[in-house]
Amino acid sequence: MAASAKTLTINNCTSKEDWTVVLPRRGRKGRKATKVEILEEKQEPWAPTDSQIDLSRETKLKGKMERCIDKIGVSQFYHAFRDQIETTVFYHIHRVLGSETKMQMVMYGIGSIELYEPPCLQLSLAILMKRDFSWIGNIEVFDPILSVTETRVLEAFGCSVISINEHGKREAVKPTMFFMPHCEAELYNNLLQANWKPKPLSNMVLLGNSFEEYEEHASLCKNSPVLNSMVNILAVRRFTHEIKIEKISDDYYNAFHDSSWHFFSPDHDIDLPCIKS
Ligand SMILES: C[S@@+](CC[C@H](N)C(=O)[O-])C[C@H]1O[C@@H](n2cnc3c(N)ncnc32)[C@H](O)[C@@H]1O
Repeated sequence: MAASAKTLTINNCTSKEDWTVVLPRRGRKGRKATKVEILEEKQEPWAPTDSQIDLSRETKLKGKMERCIDKIGVSQFYHAFRDQIETTVFYHIHRVLGSETKMQMVMYGIGSIELYEPPCLQLSLAILMKRDFSWIGNIEVFDPILSVTETRVLEAFGCSVISINEHGKREAVKPTMFFMPHCEAELYNNLLQANWKPKPLSNMVLLGNSFEEYEEHASLCKNSPVLNSMVNILAVRRFTHEIKIEKISDDYYNAFHDSSWHFFSPDHDIDLPCIKS
């Protein structure tokens, strides 16, 4: 397991800038996505990073997505992932669903499906889940770096692209699965902050970076400002049931390493710790 491919590394714990999310090595060209700052927290209308419709680029990208879905769909990784849902994860999904039959999926931070492979694999996994599990409802996707070509291809594959930058603050007023592959800690933290009440938390299913790993890293960084971006992540741990994604072969490692399912069951009688936003 190459150290360069780990999600989280801590260089030291003296400043926020030292908390670095390290992504797998990728090509140099194109938009950069290795270190992303979430500067503005205001919910604001969003439009793709470009406006030029390019049909040949779209056709090429659709073909690439189709091949990616086919490849992952027959992989051992996907079979193990699906088995894990059927055997271990579904019990918790069922509890979140309650009397509902479907939960929508909100996918934040997908990255560029045109430029990089992990985002293609991550989108393919979402599409396969919708194909194979009747409880998955509509898939809504957002990443501020999406191009108009990517937006149109996402729609061609049945996803809706969110037209507002929510900064991860969608409230789970009904059962909602958040798929946030390898997002920054701030985005998970924003999501938890926006849902910091027992009912919305128990409506959430989160598939994303392992919170257990955040906690392990945080224990190495006591009193550091980096912890400010993860207060809710750390506080929710005691109400969290986490199930790690299993059996990730080399082909899928970059897209899915250190990922877990998270379910939150705060006791209605116990107040959640009061956390300043
Ligand atoms: C570390 S990258 C992960 C990209 C991809 N999922 C992967 O594994 O390669 C985090 C992504 O979060 C996106 N992001 C930043 N702010 C966001 C926001 N407010 N809502 C959704 N995504 C956001 C970035 O543009 C970036 O593509």
